[in-house]
Amino acid sequence: MDRWILRLLADSYSNKDGVLFIEELSSIDIAERFGTPVYVTSESRLRENYRRLYKAFSRLSRFRLFYAVKANSNLAVLTVLRQEGAWADCSCPAEIYEARIAGFNGERLLYTGNYNSREELRFALDAGVTINFDDPSMLNKLPSNAKLNGICFRINPGIGKGGREGLVFAGPDAKFGSSEDHAMKGYKKAKEMGAKSFGIHMMTGSNVLDPRYFPAITEVLMDIAGRIAKETGIEFEFVNIGGGFGVPYTDNETPLPIDEVAKSVVDVFKSKLDEYRMGSPTLAAEPGRYLVADTTVLLARVCHVKKSEKTFVGIDAGMNTLLRPALYKAYHPMLTANRLNEEDVEQVNICGQICENTDIIARDRSMPRMQEGDLLAIFNAGAYGFSMSSQYNNRPRAAEVIVLKDSAELIRRRESIHDLLEGQQIPARLLQ
Ligand SMILES: Cc1ncc(COP(=O)(O)O)c(C=O)c1O
Repeated sequence: MDRWILRLLADSYSNKDGVLFIEELSSIDIAERFGTPVYVTSESRLRENYRRLYKAFSRLSRFRLFYAVKANSNLAVLTVLRQEGAWADCSCPAEIYEARIAGFNGERLLYTGNYNSREELRFALDAGVTINFDDPSMLNKLPSNAKLNGICFRINPGIGKGGREGLVFAGPDAKFGSSEDHAMKGYKKAKEMGAKSFGIHMMTGSNVLDPRYFPAITEVLMDIAGRIAKETGIEFEFVNIGGGFGVPYTDNETPLPIDEVAKSVVDVFKSKLDEYRMGSPTLAAEPGRYLVADTTVLLARVCHVKKSEKTFVGIDAGMNTLLRPALYKAYHPMLTANRLNEEDVEQVNICGQICENTDIIARDRSMPRMQEGDLLAIFNAGAYGFSMSSQYNNRPRAAEVIVLKDSAELIRRRESIHDLLEGQQIPARLLQ
């Protein structure tokens, strides 16, 4: 079992007489009260993560922290981060809509879409958000009377890095962002179209745990920004280095030393501002995973154990509930929440109930003897967990709960079979 995760996240999770506690609440009680599968988020940890990252950068530079809504768009999570002072980065109109419901006003929102339709761009303009264009030729798709306040371009700096294949978002094969030349033309055109304020952005990969990567890639972006500023006469209002700050998912990974990362990034940022005489833009970042991943545990119930050549432990959460293992072979730390003190006795495969052979949440894990009714806690499920879940195989989606000290509140009700039918209709002619 991944007991190391309890040592790493000791402020939020603990072992009380063999039972996993989330803040001050027993995971067994939470599962009984709300049912399983259920995503359980620690509010204290969410606030701590925000404060740690914000403080690391803001003590060194003017700093804006956009939260990447796609990582976890639950309205309660958005509200907590908005209370903490976050701005938000949205990837589609629905995220803009959700962020506004959670109290973010348009000025605090960045819209980083890609391959946007005209309708989506119009929605963003009407919402008063800053549009971060993936491709400058999209300027041609704006309505002729568009009032351009802030605009930004997403740069593909030619290199990227990610925690695993599929998490690299820049470089020659990436579908995202624009080259320096391309963006240069875009800024000139946006100026002609009357844009008043400008940002520059990159997002080159996700779950990076190498602290040296962040200053290195910031240097590449700053050189591009400097050359663009010089040639166009633009004074950037913000420089956004994207997200990508990783968290450990395995025992041999170490947490990102965020103070060290911030210091090295800000050093590069400031020296390049001087070198290119770029004025005083605000430094910005746009993390998702770092803020939310380790805030949340997915609790799932063991439904059946099959002992054949291998042991398969079937739980009520599968690739429909948590897609990352099937999508990227991602590793999630796991504990048997009701048997924390028991020795590991066998290697098992933990699977969901979906009719796909990729529906394996963990392979060859050493676990205590597991039986029907046991409770499994799957850690680091707060980022790209619920937000990637689906109704595949007609499985209603999980509930979500937020915990603060000894209180637990529902923040998304479990879907029912009726939700699966929602919006469907049978044409009358088929009923005859
Ligand atoms: C444009 C953009 N910004 C920010 C993020 C957040 O990345 P992370 O969760 O790695 O911080 C993503 C993730 O896919 C993204 O696509």
